Amino acid sequence: MLPVEIMPGVYWVGVNDYITQMFEGLWSIEQSGICYNSYVIRGGKSALIDLAKSFQTEELIAQIKTVVDVGTLDYIVLNHVEPDHAGALNIIRQLAPKAVLVGSKVTQKMLKAFYGIDFDIHVVSDGDELSLGNSRLRFITMPFVHWPESMMTYMPNEQLLFSNDAFGGYGVLSGAVYADLCDIERLKQENLRYFVNIVAHYEKPVSKLLTKMSDVPVQMIAPSHGPIWREDVTRLARWYREWLDCASGKAQEAVTLIYASMYQNTERMMEAVSQGVVSQKVPLNVFNVSNVHVSYILPSLLERGGVIVGSPTYEGELFPPVAEVIRYAAEKKIHRRKAAFFGSYGWGGGAKDGFLCLIKPMGWELIDSLEVTGAPTGRDLQRAEQLGAQFAREIKTSQK
Ligand code: FEO
Repeated sequence: MLPVEIMPGVYWVGVNDYITQMFEGLWSIEQSGICYNSYVIRGGKSALIDLAKSFQTEELIAQIKTVVDVGTLDYIVLNHVEPDHAGALNIIRQLAPKAVLVGSKVTQKMLKAFYGIDFDIHVVSDGDELSLGNSRLRFITMPFVHWPESMMTYMPNEQLLFSNDAFGGYGVLSGAVYADLCDIERLKQENLRYFVNIVAHYEKPVSKLLTKMSDVPVQMIAPSHGPIWREDVTRLARWYREWLDCASGKAQEAVTLIYASMYQNTERMMEAVSQGVVSQKVPLNVFNVSNVHVSYILPSLLERGGVIVGSPTYEGELFPPVAEVIRYAAEKKIHRRKAAFFGSYGWGGGAKDGFLCLIKPMGWELIDSLEVTGAPTGRDLQRAEQLGAQFAREIKTSQK
């Protein structure tokens, strides 16, 4: 996409990534892609804020060149050293030899480890400012949103916040750099997916950041991923608060059902359980964990207060892909859920015990369970439907 002047003298010069299939090697972005947003500030001294992944260095340089002569850059501000933000650094440094690198104290250390950079950079602390002549930058540290060195850069006169990973989302920019030109509901889903995949593990640092941000007037939020927000920008903090509340237990009166099935026996039970849930008019999301990437399941687990898990017994244990999804939920601090369990086993069972072991440290409470041997009978399916209905009623009362 062509660079866009987002405020006088401030340009978006980002790149879209249509190539990466798994972000961080873990999270599926096959359908969405992602963008790496960089920004150039020009007039007075010039600064480049954040870069891109190394394989897109050439494209990024071409973007920067349309706005400023790369060799004349005065500063490169490193809000984050993770290679999706700074992978292009060493090559861009060669083209911009007089540019001073700017980052936090921890950035200094991490630059050596990641990029072999061992000279002194311009180290900034929380609240420090840097004058560019016509404008100024203020740095707001936000350790562990997402790495320890992470910070935001803020232009106080313009009330423009370069928010780094915070308030970012998956998805390439499809023609528009501004969120208000996009489908906001789709953006919310991709922001939520990014939130739960990437930053939800650090819920306390995120909460601290929201408190810190509450006093900072902001007209525009320009994150490192996803579009730029210039209308109702406070909605991003509202969404984050809502998601933090969900993670800690104040979740929606709704159910996520995750299951797997080897020979359709557990799947037939899933259908009956689902009928029971929807009979109570409780919203239900169903995921077959063998077919749907966990990246898409975690948002539902985060937002919804009820979890029903269907799993066959596999080698005396919970079916491995089911166990994996629950371990991810634990990793992302999705706590205090009401849960139910069902499944089919061939001879000795074991899946339910495996499930209980996993959910105990997460504060998930098992409300009901149903296990059958082999294929479910008609009576088993009726019982499965009752389990779904009873669980849904429980969710309605417990979320009140
Ligand atoms: Fe956009 Fe922490 O990576």
